[in-house]
This record gives sequence, C-alpha cells and structure tokens, in this order.
Amino acid sequence: MRRKLAAGNWKMNGLKANLSEIEALATAHPAPGSDILLCPPATLIAPMAQAASGTALAIGGQDCHAAASGAHTGDIAAAMLADAGASHVILGHSERRADHDEHNEDVRAKANAALAAGLTCVICVGESEAQRDASNTLDIIGGQLSGSIPDGVTGHSLVVAYEPIWAIGTGRTPTLEQIGEVHDFIRMRLERRFGTGVGRSTRLLYGGSVKPGNAAEIFAVSNVDGALVGGASLKAADFSAIITALEAAPPQG
Ligand code: PGA
Repeated sequence: MRRKLAAGNWKMNGLKANLSEIEALATAHPAPGSDILLCPPATLIAPMAQAASGTALAIGGQDCHAAASGAHTGDIAAAMLADAGASHVILGHSERRADHDEHNEDVRAKANAALAAGLTCVICVGESEAQRDASNTLDIIGGQLSGSIPDGVTGHSLVVAYEPIWAIGTGRTPTLEQIGEVHDFIRMRLERRFGTGVGRSTRLLYGGSVKPGNAAEIFAVSNVDGALVGGASLKAADFSAIITALEAAPPQG
C-alpha cells in the first residue's frame, strides 16, 4: 500500500504571521494517517521547519536551481533548501513553466540537483485546456514525464503531481473519469520506464482546485494517492478537512 500524501503549495503567499496556520495544522493532526507536506515561499522555509519540528509535518521548497552554487542572483540551490529544513521540492509547476519559461529539460536538471541534495522531487505535469480540447492530453503528459523525470529516481525520491493547467485556481476540475485516465496512464508509464518496484511505489497526486467539498470523491479515484493543494492549503481549517478526507479514502497500491 502506498502511504497517502497531502501537499500544500503556498505559492507566493505567506508572512511570518501565517506560521500560526502550521501550528494549528500540527495540533489538528498529531499522528496523521497520511504524510503532510507544506511548501511555503522560500522566506518561510526555515521558520516553518522550526515550527514543524517534532510534528508530523514535512516542509518543502517550490523550486530550486539546477546548479549546486554559483553566480545566479536571486536563485536558490537544492542544498540550501535542505539546509533550511526542507525535505521536498516542487519542480516544474505550470506557473514556473509559464512565468520562467521552464521546459522539461530544465525541470530534469533541477530534479537531478534536488536528488543530489537528498530532496524528494514533486514533479508537476499537466495539459492546457487547448491541449485537452485537441485530445492531446496523454501525449503531452507522456512527453512531460519522459522529459522532466531524471533516471535514478525511487518511490521515495519521486512524487508526480498531475495538475491540469486549466484547473489550477479556477474552481474547475476534470471529471473523475478524466482524472482516473491520466493517473492510470502515469502509473503505466512509470512502471514501463522504471520497473514495477519504483512504478508502483511512486505517489501520484492530483492538483487543481482541490477543496474540502470535492476532496473525498477525487481521493476515491484509482491511482490518486493524495493532492497538491494551492489556495485551500493556506488556511489550516480547509487543508485539515482535505487531510481528513484523504485519511478516510480507500487504500491504493
Ligand atoms: P489550486 O492550486 O489548488 O489553488 O488550484 C493547485 C496548484 O497549483 O498546485
């Protein structure tokens, strides 16, 4: 059985005052039946890791540079995230791909840097609405998987998040059949490339407008091992309700 994972992506939101949300979350889930990951902006990684110390919450970054160090003003190396207390890093989020022109090969290079620093990579894939309308979803996802995921990953060091771009922050979600089709496809491609050991132990998250009201039905879909949650992860009460729905969902794997 794969252990489930509820991951929160705070994006460019959050000040020190918002660390109280972490304390509330840790108090609400002292011994959670799923893994819980919070990815705050870089400025909050160290204080959040400190606030989460001794709790079940893991902390992650939202991006890292592909190089280990050097003249890259404004960028952050994977080892720096680890040094600040992160155990995970989100890579290839569609907002990074769009805002910073990141392509699959950039994501792969960053993932290699993250693995070298001992971080677990949460690699994001997802189609645009135009690509879905043109029935190109599985082709796009397949290309992103083979281009973005480096060799040498394990079921521990890799998490894949399926996030349709048109569902992020819009309140719209694919049908449960569409989510299941893509998750089954991702599982099949991972098994084919990495073998059944890695392929079956890698957690697959759905992301895009996950809320307390739709979490349970999404978590019942085959090969959905959790969620990557944006807006609804900012408030402990909402994220906590999603975690509770995940804990109650049928086992997968
Ligand atoms: P959302 O964002 O939950 O606000 O739609 C999800 C994400 O981008 O990870």
